[in-house]
Amino acid sequence: MIYTLLIVAYLVSSVLFILSLRGLSSQETARQGNVYGIIGMAIAVVATLTVPGIDLYAILVPALGIGAVVGWLMAARVAMTAMPELVALLHSFVGAAAVLVGYASYLDPGMYRGSSHGVFLGEVFVDVFIGGITFTGSVVAFLKLKGKVSGTPLLLPGRHMLNLGLLIGSIVLGVLYVQSGSPFADGTGAIATDGLIWLGAMTLLACVLGVHLVMAIGGADMPVVVSMLNSYSGWTAAAAGFMLSNDLLIVTGALVGSSGAILSYIMCRAMNRSIWNVIFGGFGTESSAPPKKAAEGAPGEVQETDVDGLLDELLGARDVVIVPGYGMAVARAQHAVNDLTQLLRDRGIRVRFAIHPVAGRLPGHMNVLLAEANVPYDIVLEMEEINDDLPKTCVSLVIGANDIVNPIALEEGSPISGMPVLEVWEGDRTVVFKRSRRTGYAGVDNPLFYHERTRMLFGDANDSVSALVAALRARAA
Ligand code: TAP
Repeated sequence: MIYTLLIVAYLVSSVLFILSLRGLSSQETARQGNVYGIIGMAIAVVATLTVPGIDLYAILVPALGIGAVVGWLMAARVAMTAMPELVALLHSFVGAAAVLVGYASYLDPGMYRGSSHGVFLGEVFVDVFIGGITFTGSVVAFLKLKGKVSGTPLLLPGRHMLNLGLLIGSIVLGVLYVQSGSPFADGTGAIATDGLIWLGAMTLLACVLGVHLVMAIGGADMPVVVSMLNSYSGWTAAAAGFMLSNDLLIVTGALVGSSGAILSYIMCRAMNRSIWNVIFGGFGTESSAPPKKAAEGAPGEVQETDVDGLLDELLGARDVVIVPGYGMAVARAQHAVNDLTQLLRDRGIRVRFAIHPVAGRLPGHMNVLLAEANVPYDIVLEMEEINDDLPKTCVSLVIGANDIVNPIALEEGSPISGMPVLEVWEGDRTVVFKRSRRTGYAGVDNPLFYHERTRMLFGDANDSVSALVAALRARAA
């Protein structure tokens, strides 16, 4: 009876997770998607606690309580701009958990009763191998995103051969480990250490591989890596599900693994990168120089504008395209941007938003901020929907964006070469809101700033947009 209830609970959770993913695919339904996910996870946790044989409630319940409080505090305190770091850190927990569960299962005599040891040992191998890569790869991604490790790609000579060597070495160790059989084979209850040594050596190689794969990735390509690590964490969970004979873990892991892989593929296409190069590390870096450090005094003369000058141009415009970027998130300027949008629309000016797929620091970052500020969804367009309209646009307002509007991406030999960008310089006028002439995330100088039709409005984006809104209201009064 208890098993039937368990299967029903796991089935309901799986369906809720699928509904959750479906909900999260659109802004209108994202909140509902989150609610489905929360309910599904609550059912899954309660159901798992009732599995016969799980009785250490004195440890499990406090651990769950502490985990819930820590998770709640982290999520409540994290700034939107630090979200990718948090996501990378959480992926590292999944990887570490998979490795620990793998070892715990390997050292549990109960796992060897009645089942085929070879298959079980293979499952432990896959779980620990992917877990090790996910753990160290995610830690490096976290440190890179936090700026504790340089965003410059580490391009060791013969790095692809090194990766291949680590992979082959891990497989050889895996074969030796599986051949060692159950560590309890002698029947005395003592643990035979040879299999454990092979497993330990393989874990070390997997961890080195994780570090090396992500160290070879340059700054601008980190979003795809974070999404790929998300996918790895899902496959790790699925492998753990096979190892523990837990159907829900298999389904959930497969959902996370495949949705992460699909997202990585979509992002690779958006950034004109090959998915295989992401998987094998160091993509987008073959022909490119390491990113330069932020340059205050970059070449070229910029032309500045001020709020009054810009206001005159806006009021004379037929249509305006707003390109938000990471700086809008830093300045929390989205509410002022929404006010500006409403005021311009009230005056009959057509306003649309152009969203680059890697604008900001996490997938959908700009969409979330604009939705929070109540910008209507129907005027928020994806890059491919609006790029062709930019040459006909009267005024483009680039608010705290840099790499995503950098024309140098269209040339060979830079870290962002090949990445499609929003071609705002093709329009009649481009106004860039930022605080200085510093470079963006990829550390590449931006010739857009020196373009003859570009004007710079220096200052914090929220201050500048708010001043524009105040001036517009004053003109209306
Ligand atoms: P960036 O290229 O990082 O440029 C943001 C600009 O905002 C900076 O040049 C900065 O210039 C300006 N800024 C910062 N604070 C500001 C403030 N308070 N007011 C006004 N301006 C401010 O951003 P982007 O154009 O959105 O491109 C995103 C980059 O991040 C890409 O390289 C992408 O690959 C990478 N990335 C993306 C993701 C995802 S998934 N979206 C994840 C990780 C990395 P000043 O300092 O001069 O003000």
